[in-house]
Amino acid sequence: MSQPSNHFVKNTILKLLGAIGSEKEIKKYIQKFSSPEQRFAVIKVGGSVIRDDLDNLITSLVFLNQVGLKPVILHGAGPMLSDQLEKDNIEFSFIDGQRVTSEKVRDVAQKVFIETNKLIVDNLKKQNAKAVCIYKDVFNCAKGKSELGLVGNIQSVDVSTINDALENDMIPVISPLGQDPNEVLNINADLATIELVKAIKPYKVIFLSETGGIFNGENKLIETINIALEYQELMEKSWLHSGMKLKLEQIKTLLDHLPKSSSVSITQPINLPKELFTDSGSGTMVKHGFRIKHYVLPNDRVENKFKKIIEASFNKKLVPNFFAETNKLNVFMSSCDRATIAISGDHHIPYMDKFGVLPEAKGEGLGAGLWHEMRKTYPQLFWRSRANNPINNFYMSICEGCQKRADWHIYWIGISDYSVLQDCIEFAVTKPRSVI
Ligand code: ARG
Repeated sequence: MSQPSNHFVKNTILKLLGAIGSEKEIKKYIQKFSSPEQRFAVIKVGGSVIRDDLDNLITSLVFLNQVGLKPVILHGAGPMLSDQLEKDNIEFSFIDGQRVTSEKVRDVAQKVFIETNKLIVDNLKKQNAKAVCIYKDVFNCAKGKSELGLVGNIQSVDVSTINDALENDMIPVISPLGQDPNEVLNINADLATIELVKAIKPYKVIFLSETGGIFNGENKLIETINIALEYQELMEKSWLHSGMKLKLEQIKTLLDHLPKSSSVSITQPINLPKELFTDSGSGTMVKHGFRIKHYVLPNDRVENKFKKIIEASFNKKLVPNFFAETNKLNVFMSSCDRATIAISGDHHIPYMDKFGVLPEAKGEGLGAGLWHEMRKTYPQLFWRSRANNPINNFYMSICEGCQKRADWHIYWIGISDYSVLQDCIEFAVTKPRSVI
């Protein structure tokens, strides 16, 4: 394990800041995360991340510290513990992912956890971030299943030392060690994270891992998961392997105990600033989510809500005759009324006329959830977007084809016939503006 030098950290922070996003976005998130109403974040760091990616971990945490944010860190040390047990010739095994803990294993675990904790804290201190080791008095336990040995079932969490640290501007770094009235007990770090999160109820829960997210059947990172809409569907997928299934189950449990505003992100240490301080992030973000409602217009109430979202999101006015002049308008809207899509029947192939998300709701995964639901109804679709619209990166990633004209980019899905496509493109480029 190497130690990052001061010079390295400074350079990396500069690189990160320049590369991650606009100043406006970064400021928006710093403000959100500094709210006195809710603790900022619990960050779970897996043992292998500490072993193999310590430099980036420390750099990202120092970066948070420098912008005035204090996360609560809970670390694991599984691989180091296994290495040490092997070195010491102590046998060990697992039952359902939990380490069977004899007295010998417990003693080594305690030593390795404390060493790992100190390693993180010492490296943070070297970069002038204030941090404190906490390896006892947080998790009050009862002994769990007898076949697991000295493994703790958490009965209550005492957050007083954590709060003291935060109030003194220190980053608390916590080991998954507990105690019953008689002795020290080993705790699975993921289970400790769940109980810690329930006690702290932070705005963000972050899992730092080597892979940095959940990947789909094509091995593509899933950027956002909306539990209310997608949980069942995802759990049935054959490509979601058992480790990820368990993780998603745990995340759902976590979200059930957190306020609606909270979310869980899985990312890599190097991408943590980007995940936190940009709308699009870098990793998988999981939210409680929302339901999607589908309306066929006319409907005055929906038209009013639609107009509000579109005008705020484009910072322009909807043309006065928009509803009167659009045929068979189908509107999809998030149950929180903060994102909407309109599909018009003006052309024989469905045309996506509008897609808007309220500026303050960007980064919550609303757009992606809405898109996902709308696509279930519309396998064939085309739309246009201004050449300089920042959403074009997203459109590029989801369309099957695109033609770039001077003013407009035209995108489509499910259209393979060349003459039909020409017709659609012609329709899109000549269509009058609907926001001014
Ligand atoms: N920065 C925001 C947050 O952390 C949004 C992140 C979006 N991330 C994603 N993987 N879609 O709350």
